[in-house]
Amino acid sequence: MGTFLITGATSGIGRAVALRLAEEEHDVIGVGRDEARGEEIEAASARITFVACDLSQADEIETMMDGLKDQAITLDGLFNNAATFGRPGTPERLPASAFDDVFELNVLATNRLIQRAIPLLATGASVVNNAAIVGHVKFPPMLGPYAASKAAVIALTKTFAHRMKGKVRFNAVCFGPVDTPLSHKLYGGEAKFQEAMTHHFRGHAAKPDEVAPVVTFLLSEASSYINGQAITVDGGYTLS
Ligand SMILES: NC(=O)c1ccc[n+]([C@@H]2O[C@H](COP(=O)([O-])OP(=O)(O)OC[C@H]3O[C@@H](n4cnc5c(N)ncnc54)[C@H](OP(=O)(O)O)[C@@H]3O)[C@@H](O)[C@H]2O)c1
Repeated sequence: MGTFLITGATSGIGRAVALRLAEEEHDVIGVGRDEARGEEIEAASARITFVACDLSQADEIETMMDGLKDQAITLDGLFNNAATFGRPGTPERLPASAFDDVFELNVLATNRLIQRAIPLLATGASVVNNAAIVGHVKFPPMLGPYAASKAAVIALTKTFAHRMKGKVRFNAVCFGPVDTPLSHKLYGGEAKFQEAMTHHFRGHAAKPDEVAPVVTFLLSEASSYINGQAITVDGGYTLS
Protein backbone atom coordinates (compact mmCIF):
# COMPACT_ATOMS: atom_id res chain seq x y z
CA MET A 1 0.00 0.00 0.00
CA GLY A 2 1.12 3.58 -0.61
CA THR A 3 1.97 6.70 1.34
CA PHE A 4 0.18 9.96 0.55
CA LEU A 5 0.73 13.54 1.66
CA ILE A 6 -2.54 15.46 1.95
CA THR A 7 -2.66 19.17 2.78
CA GLY A 8 -5.72 20.59 4.48
CA ALA A 9 -6.46 17.16 5.96
CA THR A 10 -8.13 18.53 9.08
CA SER A 11 -11.38 19.58 7.41
CA GLY A 12 -13.71 19.27 4.45
CA ILE A 13 -12.48 17.67 1.23
CA GLY A 14 -8.94 16.98 2.46
CA ARG A 15 -10.23 15.20 5.55
CA ALA A 16 -12.59 13.05 3.45
CA VAL A 17 -9.74 12.13 1.08
CA ALA A 18 -7.41 11.30 3.98
CA LEU A 19 -10.02 9.03 5.58
CA ARG A 20 -10.82 7.30 2.30
CA LEU A 21 -7.14 6.61 1.56
CA ALA A 22 -6.73 5.23 5.08
CA GLU A 23 -9.79 3.00 4.56
CA GLU A 24 -8.06 1.72 1.41
CA GLU A 25 -5.14 0.80 3.71
CA HIS A 26 -2.76 3.52 2.61
CA ASP A 27 -0.66 5.53 5.02
CA VAL A 28 -1.54 9.22 5.11
CA ILE A 29 0.47 12.21 6.26
CA GLY A 30 -2.20 14.82 6.89
CA VAL A 31 -1.18 18.47 7.07
CA GLY A 32 -2.98 21.38 8.70
CA ARG A 33 -2.61 24.00 11.42
CA ASP A 34 -5.34 23.03 13.89
CA GLU A 35 -3.80 20.66 16.46
CA ALA A 36 -7.16 19.61 17.93
CA ARG A 37 -8.59 18.64 14.55
CA GLY A 38 -5.24 17.01 13.77
CA GLU A 39 -5.63 14.81 16.85
CA GLU A 40 -9.18 14.02 15.76
CA ILE A 41 -8.12 12.64 12.34
CA GLU A 42 -5.32 10.66 13.96
CA ALA A 43 -7.91 9.18 16.33
CA ALA A 44 -10.15 8.34 13.36
CA SER A 45 -7.49 6.11 11.77
CA ALA A 46 -4.20 4.65 12.94
CA ARG A 47 -2.97 5.05 9.36
CA ILE A 48 -3.16 8.85 9.50
CA THR A 49 -0.31 10.91 10.95
CA PHE A 50 -1.00 14.60 11.49
CA VAL A 51 1.77 17.11 10.80
CA ALA A 52 1.21 20.69 11.95
CA CYS A 53 2.40 23.15 9.34
CA ASP A 54 1.27 26.62 8.33
CA LEU A 55 1.75 26.30 4.59
CA SER A 56 1.70 30.06 4.12
CA GLN A 57 5.09 30.11 5.89
CA ALA A 58 7.84 28.96 3.52
CA ASP A 59 10.16 28.03 6.41
CA GLU A 60 7.50 25.73 7.90
CA ILE A 61 7.20 23.90 4.57
CA GLU A 62 10.98 23.52 4.50
CA THR A 63 11.00 22.09 8.05
CA MET A 64 8.17 19.66 7.28
CA MET A 65 9.73 18.42 4.04
CA ASP A 66 13.18 18.14 5.68
CA GLY A 67 11.49 15.92 8.26
CA LEU A 68 10.00 13.64 5.59
CA LYS A 69 13.37 13.47 3.80
CA ASP A 70 15.19 12.61 7.06
CA GLN A 71 12.71 9.77 7.61
CA ALA A 72 13.46 8.54 4.04
CA ILE A 73 9.76 8.61 3.21
CA THR A 74 8.76 7.72 -0.33
CA LEU A 75 5.52 9.30 -1.46
CA ASP A 76 3.07 7.64 -3.85
CA GLY A 77 1.02 10.77 -4.13
CA LEU A 78 0.43 14.33 -3.02
CA PHE A 79 -2.90 16.15 -2.75
CA ASN A 80 -2.37 19.91 -2.67
CA ASN A 81 -5.67 20.89 -1.18
CA ALA A 82 -5.28 23.61 1.48
CA ALA A 83 -6.41 27.01 0.23
CA THR A 84 -8.02 30.29 1.16
CA PHE A 85 -10.44 32.47 -0.81
CA GLY A 86 -9.05 35.60 0.84
CA ARG A 87 -11.16 38.74 1.02
CA PRO A 88 -13.99 38.94 -1.54
CA GLY A 89 -14.31 42.39 -3.10
CA THR A 90 -15.08 44.53 -6.10
CA PRO A 91 -12.24 43.90 -8.54
CA GLU A 92 -11.88 47.58 -9.53
CA ARG A 93 -11.24 48.49 -5.89
CA LEU A 94 -9.34 45.54 -4.42
CA PRO A 95 -5.87 46.56 -3.27
CA ALA A 96 -2.96 44.56 -4.62
CA SER A 97 -2.42 43.27 -1.08
CA ALA A 98 -5.70 41.30 -1.38
CA PHE A 99 -3.79 38.90 -3.61
CA ASP A 100 -0.94 38.31 -1.16
CA ASP A 101 -2.30 35.71 1.28
CA VAL A 102 -4.34 33.99 -1.46
CA PHE A 103 -1.37 33.55 -3.78
CA GLU A 104 1.01 32.73 -0.91
CA LEU A 105 -1.06 29.70 0.13
CA ASN A 106 -2.90 28.65 -3.02
CA VAL A 107 -0.08 29.04 -5.53
CA LEU A 108 3.32 29.59 -3.91
CA ALA A 109 2.89 26.97 -1.18
CA THR A 110 1.57 24.49 -3.77
CA ASN A 111 4.60 25.15 -5.95
CA ARG A 112 6.99 24.87 -2.98
CA LEU A 113 5.45 21.59 -1.88
CA ILE A 114 5.63 20.12 -5.37
CA GLN A 115 9.28 21.17 -5.71
CA ARG A 116 10.19 19.65 -2.35
CA ALA A 117 8.06 16.53 -2.92
CA ILE A 118 9.47 15.64 -6.36
CA PRO A 119 12.64 13.96 -4.99
CA LEU A 120 10.48 11.94 -2.58
CA LEU A 121 7.89 10.81 -5.15
CA ALA A 122 8.02 7.24 -6.44
CA THR A 123 8.11 6.66 -10.19
CA GLY A 124 4.47 6.46 -11.24
CA ALA A 125 3.32 8.66 -8.36
CA SER A 126 0.45 11.09 -8.80
CA VAL A 127 -0.03 14.70 -7.75
CA VAL A 128 -3.54 16.13 -7.57
CA ASN A 129 -4.00 19.86 -7.11
CA ASN A 130 -7.31 21.18 -5.83
CA ALA A 131 -8.30 24.01 -8.18
CA ALA A 132 -12.02 24.91 -8.50
CA ILE A 133 -14.63 25.69 -11.13
CA VAL A 134 -13.83 29.25 -10.04
CA GLY A 135 -10.81 30.13 -12.16
CA HIS A 136 -11.59 27.39 -14.69
CA VAL A 137 -15.14 27.65 -16.02
CA LYS A 138 -16.79 30.16 -13.68
CA PHE A 139 -15.64 33.64 -12.66
CA PRO A 140 -17.76 35.24 -9.89
CA PRO A 141 -17.07 38.98 -9.96
CA MET A 142 -16.17 39.28 -6.26
CA LEU A 143 -13.57 36.50 -6.13
CA GLY A 144 -10.83 37.84 -8.41
CA PRO A 145 -7.75 36.83 -6.37
CA TYR A 146 -9.18 33.37 -5.61
CA ALA A 147 -10.14 32.78 -9.28
CA ALA A 148 -6.74 33.99 -10.49
CA SER A 149 -4.99 31.74 -7.96
CA LYS A 150 -6.98 28.70 -9.08
CA ALA A 151 -6.25 29.47 -12.76
CA ALA A 152 -2.58 29.62 -11.74
CA VAL A 153 -2.89 26.24 -9.99
CA ILE A 154 -4.20 24.74 -13.25
CA ALA A 155 -1.32 26.29 -15.22
CA LEU A 156 1.20 24.91 -12.69
CA THR A 157 -0.44 21.49 -12.89
CA LYS A 158 -0.08 21.36 -16.66
CA THR A 159 3.47 22.75 -16.54
CA PHE A 160 4.66 20.06 -14.10
CA ALA A 161 2.78 17.34 -16.02
CA HIS A 162 4.62 18.38 -19.18
CA ARG A 163 7.96 18.57 -17.40
CA MET A 164 7.72 15.18 -15.67
CA LYS A 165 6.66 13.35 -18.85
CA GLY A 166 4.52 10.79 -17.03
CA LYS A 167 7.14 9.71 -14.48
CA VAL A 168 4.89 11.57 -12.06
CA ARG A 169 1.36 12.53 -13.18
CA PHE A 170 -0.19 15.88 -12.34
CA ASN A 171 -3.91 16.63 -12.54
CA ALA A 172 -6.16 19.33 -11.16
CA VAL A 173 -9.67 18.80 -9.82
CA CYS A 174 -12.17 21.63 -10.27
CA PHE A 175 -15.04 21.14 -7.87
CA GLY A 176 -18.29 23.03 -7.82
CA PRO A 177 -19.81 23.88 -4.42
CA VAL A 178 -18.97 21.38 -1.68
CA ASP A 179 -20.56 21.46 1.77
CA THR A 180 -17.57 22.46 3.93
CA PRO A 181 -16.61 25.19 6.43
CA LEU A 182 -14.85 27.06 3.59
CA SER A 183 -17.99 27.36 1.49
CA HIS A 184 -20.12 28.21 4.55
CA LYS A 185 -17.75 31.10 5.26
CA LEU A 186 -17.84 32.20 1.64
CA TYR A 187 -21.65 32.44 1.70
CA GLY A 188 -21.77 34.19 5.10
CA GLY A 189 -22.78 31.15 7.17
CA GLU A 190 -24.03 27.59 6.79
CA ALA A 191 -27.74 28.54 6.60
CA LYS A 192 -27.11 31.00 3.76
CA PHE A 193 -24.99 28.40 1.97
CA GLN A 194 -27.71 25.73 2.23
CA GLU A 195 -30.34 28.22 1.05
CA ALA A 196 -28.21 29.22 -1.95
CA MET A 197 -27.67 25.56 -2.80
CA THR A 198 -31.40 24.97 -3.21
CA HIS A 199 -30.82 26.74 -6.56
CA HIS A 200 -28.03 24.30 -7.48
CA PHE A 201 -28.67 22.26 -10.63
CA ARG A 202 -29.39 19.23 -8.40
CA GLY A 203 -30.83 21.04 -5.39
CA HIS A 204 -27.87 20.69 -3.05
CA ALA A 205 -24.10 20.88 -2.94
CA ALA A 206 -21.79 17.86 -2.90
CA LYS A 207 -20.73 16.39 0.42
CA PRO A 208 -16.96 15.94 0.82
CA ASP A 209 -17.44 12.14 0.80
CA GLU A 210 -19.10 12.40 -2.60
CA VAL A 211 -16.12 14.10 -4.26
CA ALA A 212 -13.28 12.39 -2.37
CA PRO A 213 -13.37 9.27 -4.61
CA VAL A 214 -12.49 11.43 -7.62
CA VAL A 215 -9.29 12.46 -5.87
CA THR A 216 -8.40 8.97 -4.67
CA PHE A 217 -9.00 7.68 -8.22
CA LEU A 218 -6.66 10.33 -9.66
CA LEU A 219 -4.07 9.47 -6.99
CA SER A 220 -4.28 5.78 -7.91
CA GLU A 221 -2.85 3.64 -10.70
CA ALA A 222 -6.40 3.20 -12.01
CA SER A 223 -6.07 6.68 -13.57
CA SER A 224 -2.63 6.02 -15.09
CA TYR A 225 -3.57 7.43 -18.52
CA ILE A 226 -4.96 10.72 -17.17
CA ASN A 227 -2.26 13.37 -17.03
CA GLY A 228 -2.13 17.17 -17.23
CA GLN A 229 -5.90 17.60 -17.00
CA ALA A 230 -8.19 19.99 -15.13
CA ILE A 231 -11.25 17.88 -14.39
CA THR A 232 -14.54 19.57 -13.55
CA VAL A 233 -16.62 17.77 -10.92
CA ASP A 234 -19.67 19.89 -10.17
CA GLY A 235 -22.80 17.76 -10.44
CA GLY A 236 -23.82 19.80 -13.47
CA TYR A 237 -23.65 23.13 -11.61
CA THR A 238 -22.01 25.00 -14.48
CA LEU A 239 -24.68 23.82 -16.94
CA SER A 240 -27.18 26.27 -15.50
N1 LIG B 1 -15.85 23.88 -0.60
C1 LIG B 1 -16.04 24.19 -1.87
O1 LIG B 1 -17.16 24.53 -2.31
C2 LIG B 1 -14.89 24.10 -2.82
C3 LIG B 1 -15.17 24.19 -4.20
C4 LIG B 1 -14.11 24.12 -5.09
C5 LIG B 1 -12.82 23.97 -4.63
N2 LIG B 1 -12.59 23.91 -3.30
C6 LIG B 1 -11.20 23.78 -2.84
O2 LIG B 1 -11.10 22.66 -2.00
C7 LIG B 1 -10.00 22.83 -1.11
C8 LIG B 1 -10.40 22.47 0.30
O3 LIG B 1 -11.46 23.29 0.69
P1 LIG B 1 -12.57 22.84 1.72
O4 LIG B 1 -13.84 23.36 1.17
O5 LIG B 1 -12.44 21.40 2.05
O6 LIG B 1 -12.19 23.78 2.96
P2 LIG B 1 -12.12 23.58 4.53
O7 LIG B 1 -13.09 22.57 5.00
O8 LIG B 1 -12.18 24.96 5.10
O9 LIG B 1 -10.65 23.00 4.73
C9 LIG B 1 -9.52 23.77 4.44
C10 LIG B 1 -8.30 23.01 4.92
O10 LIG B 1 -7.14 23.78 4.58
C11 LIG B 1 -6.31 23.87 5.72
N3 LIG B 1 -5.57 25.12 5.69
C12 LIG B 1 -6.06 26.37 5.46
N4 LIG B 1 -5.06 27.27 5.54
C13 LIG B 1 -3.93 26.56 5.81
C14 LIG B 1 -2.58 26.93 6.02
N5 LIG B 1 -2.18 28.20 5.97
N6 LIG B 1 -1.68 25.96 6.29
C15 LIG B 1 -2.07 24.67 6.37
N7 LIG B 1 -3.33 24.26 6.17
C16 LIG B 1 -4.24 25.20 5.91
C17 LIG B 1 -7.27 23.81 6.90
O11 LIG B 1 -6.58 23.28 8.01
P3 LIG B 1 -6.34 24.05 9.39
O12 LIG B 1 -7.56 24.85 9.69
O13 LIG B 1 -6.05 22.92 10.33
O14 LIG B 1 -5.13 24.88 9.13
C18 LIG B 1 -8.29 22.79 6.41
O15 LIG B 1 -7.85 21.48 6.68
C19 LIG B 1 -9.53 24.28 -1.34
O16 LIG B 1 -8.43 24.26 -2.23
C20 LIG B 1 -10.71 24.93 -2.01
O17 LIG B 1 -10.31 26.03 -2.81
C21 LIG B 1 -13.59 23.97 -2.38
